[in-house]
Amino acid sequence: MTADWAHVDRYLVDTLVGHQDSGVLEANAAAGLPAIDVSPPQGKFLYLIALSIGARRVLEIGTLGGYSTIQLARAVGKEGQVVTFEYAPEHARVARENLDRAGIGERVDIRVGAALDTLPVLAEEQPEPFDLVFIDADKVNNSNYVQWALRLTRPGSVIIVDNVVRNGGVADADSTDPAIRASREVLELLAAEPRLDATAVQTVGSKGWDGFAYAVVLGED
Ligand code: SAH
Ligand code: DHB
Ligand code: MG
Repeated sequence: MTADWAHVDRYLVDTLVGHQDSGVLEANAAAGLPAIDVSPPQGKFLYLIALSIGARRVLEIGTLGGYSTIQLARAVGKEGQVVTFEYAPEHARVARENLDRAGIGERVDIRVGAALDTLPVLAEEQPEPFDLVFIDADKVNNSNYVQWALRLTRPGSVIIVDNVVRNGGVADADSTDPAIRASREVLELLAAEPRLDATAVQTVGSKGWDGFAYAVVLGED
């Protein structure tokens, strides 16, 4: 099935999504970065979500070469800002080049280091609340990242967690795979946390079978 899914993704990109950022994916490959960016249809979906909610401030955890970052940065507009966290200096360097080449580099602040070390530094700065958080880094820390997202958002903000379905592994309660266990843990946190209401949507496509969780930060009522 994966071949069919990839075929349909190519059709959707040709028809609807466009090829505007294929140069970013080529630059990432040339620099030896792993091809684990969101797919182009998913990237466009992130862009449209950010546009739909009028996001001006976006927090991203896991930059890689900035493919998803560019989609988010386009959506926030000239006055907007994306703060994105990346562990690997080489990934951050490639991302900076890609972002600047895409013409939206000035809207993006890349923070290099382990996000659990650098998020407290951001929090100390008491930034304006973020409208949208996209969590797409080391999966074992997903629950920690949701807790940070709660501190850095406001009622009405959206939190998206990538890769929570993991080829269906998420439904296996006995799995010993740390990423699957972390997926289950973060979904259980989203369910249990009274300040959030959430769902998860399965996806297929060029990246196989996976899915994302989508949560909204609730207000008083
Ligand atoms: N969001 C990107 C893909 C991110 S891939 C896109 O769709 O284009 C995951 C990234 O998270 C990798 O670049 C990896 O280096 C980074 N990462 C892994 N552990 C991290 C950590 N502890 N803190 C911050 N980034 C981390
Ligand atoms: C992997 C990570 C991702 O964020 C993703 O979207 C796909 C794959 C990985 O680590 O393999
Ligand atoms: Mg991902």
